[in-house]
Amino acid sequence: MFRQCAPRILKARSCLPSSSTIPRIPQRTMATASPNHASLVEFGQKHVTKGLGRQLEAVITKGSGSYVSISDGREMLDFTSGIGVTNLGHCHPRVSKAAADQCMNLVHGQCSIGFTGPYLELIEQLLPMMPHPSLDSFYFWNSGSEAVEGAIKMARMFTGRQNIIAMQGGYHGRTFGAMAVTKSKTIYSAGFHPLMPGVFTLPFPYWHQLSRPKDTPTEELSAFCLNQLHLLLSQQTTPKDTAAIIIESVIGEGGYVPAPPEFLKGLREICDQHGIMLIIDEVQSGFGRTGKNFAIEYSGVKPDIMTVAKGLANGFPLSGIISRKELTDTLAPGSMGGTYAGNAVACAAAVEVAKVFKEEKILDNVNARSQELFSSLRALQASTSTKGLIADVRGQGLMAAVEFASPKGSSPHDSFINPSAPEKLSSRVAKRCQEKGMLILTTSVYEVIRFIPALNISKADLEKGIKIFTEAVEEIVREG
Ligand SMILES: Cc1ncc(COP(=O)(O)O)c(C=O)c1O
Repeated sequence: MFRQCAPRILKARSCLPSSSTIPRIPQRTMATASPNHASLVEFGQKHVTKGLGRQLEAVITKGSGSYVSISDGREMLDFTSGIGVTNLGHCHPRVSKAAADQCMNLVHGQCSIGFTGPYLELIEQLLPMMPHPSLDSFYFWNSGSEAVEGAIKMARMFTGRQNIIAMQGGYHGRTFGAMAVTKSKTIYSAGFHPLMPGVFTLPFPYWHQLSRPKDTPTEELSAFCLNQLHLLLSQQTTPKDTAAIIIESVIGEGGYVPAPPEFLKGLREICDQHGIMLIIDEVQSGFGRTGKNFAIEYSGVKPDIMTVAKGLANGFPLSGIISRKELTDTLAPGSMGGTYAGNAVACAAAVEVAKVFKEEKILDNVNARSQELFSSLRALQASTSTKGLIADVRGQGLMAAVEFASPKGSSPHDSFINPSAPEKLSSRVAKRCQEKGMLILTTSVYEVIRFIPALNISKADLEKGIKIFTEAVEEIVREG
């Protein structure tokens, strides 16, 4: 059955090249439902592991700019970017072409056999983008989780110590080391214990997790958490046993909460004082997502090790662990590696991403669209139509979130319970957006919706998405 269905459903319309600075969305014709839609979905439901959650029971047949086509015939505005990956839109013509060209030259060179041209060219492109010039030693892998695994290995090797401090609400992936430092939801580790030992959790300066009023100044939250870190280091893991602190510049799966600059500076000071490595995870917040190349730039803090992935290659599997040469020179050759690590096609795509980024002035678009997004979301928050049920609008650049009130909160002890709020507001809003033709994701254990549109999204498409979201929220609030 699948062999017969697949060719028809996978036939794609071609991408047109862009002619303006911000790539144009290619002309779209009316999408039609695939005659195989139902049978393909049934096949997938039967044979794809249940361990995968899914937002859509459909096949994604094509991606183009800010849109994806799906097998039920709909064309959806994509405010997920494949979870923060297709930052330049789906199938950016220049990135796809660079990958296709590389496919005709060298697909797999293997990083332990020799260098490849795209690997080196990518480093050349990335060096001037680094948040600190000391970040001059690169190792490319495939996924964000692998980058985190590598960062943990390096931190242990650089310090000769074992323990890792992670943030409450932090997310770093689903492999064993990454899962052990993930503290956003128990679903990621439930049933998979024992995890990697030696991991300690630090409260993160997020008002809701700390049971503080939502307008508590971040300085106050940061001071509390830094004090907790001092206690952690004197009560639970002595600095002499502590290899690293790992933190996302913007907590992603934990609710899209930017780490306050004073908190990051405080972590840096404590790390410097004790020779602890500061690992900054920019897997989701990197490559322009927050309006700067890397979100850590908002604080000016220097990472010892930085992890990147997602937007790096706009959809090709590629991640990176970046540190200082003086540190990575202590690694034994062979201690890092992987069959597909730093694949030549993925690197060629990433080189083109970096070039497009500069030439098409992507950061300018992020900052312009971000202002429009935030002012619309704040207006919606203030509007009587939402009855005060939007608790928080937050984020940076085009990594934005709306947190709704909840009638039950995350527990009976939740400090932010609003009995008049409809239940499961965020997932109902996401579902309603989907019915209206837009893909959007929830995040965290709270009622949070996150906005991750393409960084080159047009003003018109952003407005369209905001309109769909606004209508969805107002309808669900009315329905109660
Ligand atoms: C901050 C962060 N780190 C690590 C990961 C894991 O990346 P991957 O899913 O590519 O393994 C993610 C994925 O969402 C992430 O957001």
